[in-house]
Amino acid sequence: MNILLIGATGKLGSAVHSALTARGHKILTVGRTAGDLRHDVADPEQVTALYEAARAATGGLDAVVSAAGDVPYKPVTQMTPDDYLAAFRGKALSQIELVRQGIPHLAERGSFTLITGVLVNDPIPTGSAASMANGAVESFVRAAAIEIAPQRINAVSPTIFTESVPEYGDFFPGVRPVDLTDVAQAYVRSVEGSHTGRIFELS
Ligand SMILES: NC(=O)c1ccc[n+]([C@@H]2O[C@H](COP(=O)([O-])OP(=O)(O)OC[C@H]3O[C@@H](n4cnc5c(N)ncnc54)[C@H](OP(=O)(O)O)[C@@H]3O)[C@@H](O)[C@H]2O)c1
Repeated sequence: MNILLIGATGKLGSAVHSALTARGHKILTVGRTAGDLRHDVADPEQVTALYEAARAATGGLDAVVSAAGDVPYKPVTQMTPDDYLAAFRGKALSQIELVRQGIPHLAERGSFTLITGVLVNDPIPTGSAASMANGAVESFVRAAAIEIAPQRINAVSPTIFTESVPEYGDFFPGVRPVDLTDVAQAYVRSVEGSHTGRIFELS
């Protein structure tokens, strides 16, 4: 399959890239500062340009896979309206736009796979903007699935990555982390399987 992978150089994106490449897929990588195509998906106009560039490069896409997302972490009492808007734009609207604008560029039975995270149901202090944005993405996935068939859409919702424990482990006391190789297999399942409207939780 021809697959557009956003966030391909990040921790998660690198693992997803390896897993999908090992399955024989052709990957077009996207990031703001690295990748085959350089676009900020938090800007809807750049998403338009991204899909035009992807069409020119591949002739058509079979899957769009997101492993990107930026949100601010602060105590609720220090959050500003702009922080919540930044979280919405950086994690939710960016991925919603990848779907909304991607539908005409995707094969009839193609798929979208988005990234959310455990904070939807299992919040941590300073994580309110991330919880909000991830929850929005999951609600969108369930809603979009009933409209876009036979195209499919799923999300992957991991707990903290084993590889992120040195950075963020103190925020997740007693939580068993998940290896990135296992998270990447959930992307393979979403891309190659038949499910739609699913949130693949890894905890
Ligand atoms: N770390 C964890 O334990 C964990 C657990 C659950 C869920 N998650 C979620 O997994 C996702 C990836 O996390 P990560 O730890 O792999 O992050 P990361 O290492 O910082 O990688 C993020 C990647 O996304 C790209 N990116 C970010 N914003 C972008 C934008 N607006 N447009 C285009 N590309 C963008 C970055 O490249 P450029 O900087 O070049 O744009 C980079 O390649 C995030 O949504 C995060 O919330 C992480």
